[in-house]
Amino acid sequence: MTQRDQSRSRSFVICIAVALCAIAFSIATSGGIEYALDKELPTWSRDKAVLITGANAGLGLATALRIARAGTANTIILACRNPSKCQVAMQDAVSILPEGATTRVLTVELDLSKRDSVMKGAHAIQEALSDQETADQDVVPDLDVLINNAGVAFAWNSKEFVEGVETHMAINHLSHFLLTHRLLPNLLAAAGKRTGANMSPPRVVHVSSLTAIGSWRDVSLGWKNPNPRKAMGRWFNFFDCIRYYSQSKRANLMQTWELHKRYEGAGIISVAAHPGYTRSEIFRKVQMPLSSGWIKELATKNPYLSMSTDDGATMQLMAAFAPPDIVPSGSHVVPKYWTTGTPVLIPRLLSGFSLHYNSFSEKDTANLWDASMKELGIEEFGKLESGMA
Ligand SMILES: NC(=O)c1ccc[n+]([C@@H]2O[C@H](COP(=O)([O-])OP(=O)(O)OC[C@H]3O[C@@H](n4cnc5c(N)ncnc54)[C@H](OP(=O)(O)O)[C@@H]3O)[C@@H](O)[C@H]2O)c1
Repeated sequence: MTQRDQSRSRSFVICIAVALCAIAFSIATSGGIEYALDKELPTWSRDKAVLITGANAGLGLATALRIARAGTANTIILACRNPSKCQVAMQDAVSILPEGATTRVLTVELDLSKRDSVMKGAHAIQEALSDQETADQDVVPDLDVLINNAGVAFAWNSKEFVEGVETHMAINHLSHFLLTHRLLPNLLAAAGKRTGANMSPPRVVHVSSLTAIGSWRDVSLGWKNPNPRKAMGRWFNFFDCIRYYSQSKRANLMQTWELHKRYEGAGIISVAAHPGYTRSEIFRKVQMPLSSGWIKELATKNPYLSMSTDDGATMQLMAAFAPPDIVPSGSHVVPKYWTTGTPVLIPRLLSGFSLHYNSFSEKDTANLWDASMKELGIEEFGKLESGMA
């Protein structure tokens, strides 16, 4: 057997094992929410102002393009850390707007690894949301949908801490917490105006992952630990990083639940989405210990268990636009077969696992909220501290 054959058969065994797990998951999964999304999207996104973080690549870009193709949104803001990549994404989106569409497609620079950049980015977003011609200093511009999509995964080789916090938690959770805090006034401004047929309330979507299951229950563990990785060898460091990623994705779920509890009464919906296993840029960026080996090849090109970014984006589009009678606040949209499939809401049957919100105690989610507020020095969520940008 050649080395190539061996790697093929190993890939095959892994595919079978994952497929069996996926089937078990699908059996446990309740009824789907299979809407012809592209048919509904022009109605569901009509006149809305939407912001997507990490909009230049992968799922964020696919999400932006599907909204642009629908052609009825009022504004699509693409937030990216790299301005030139953002420009390219904007041109792509503008080029597919249907004829006669009046949607504004705008870009904003936002680097989630720098709190200062998040603050400046939030300010720029608020300016972009204001209609320049009718701008009134006293009117808070509306934001209908905030999609906290950007993310970093398995960054074991990167600088381990961002402003004193573990990289995954800093970028995937804390910076999105800060962004949501800064944009809450804009979401609240849209609340109450979006009632009636097909006009859903404003909402925050967190793009999480089923890898959240591999996390510590207490997600605040590891935020501030002195870095134990260097001494432990490459493979240990890599697997340790998977746990840090899982931890940040669990934090996304917990934040979704806490926002739901705190703001549903104020007219803001909070929903999480797991995009399945999507062939985005994320696996190409991962610096695996075997960076050019069959594992990476399998992860980035696997055609059997994974989806295109277009299909993967369906989960977050449903979370972002479906009316609350289809996707209620506090719910979690996942693909039917775990890694692929059409969207379903995660069922109560799975509540025994850490996948489901019910498995978080109210105390856990409140603790994470308090720890995040303290870390970021926020006194009152959604209230801009004096002297801040
Ligand atoms: N793909 C999957 O199978 C999968 C599964 C579960 C969950 N997810 C989640 O889906 C979300 C999107 O991931 P993806 O698969 O689309 O990955 P991707 O193709 O790598 O896209 C990630 C996006 O996040 C941006 N980003 C990374 N670090 C950033 C930072 N510090 N500041 C601002 N933007 C930053 C990237 O910008 P650059 O292009 O500049 O790097 C890129 O636009 C993530 O939250 C991920 O955890 C993905």
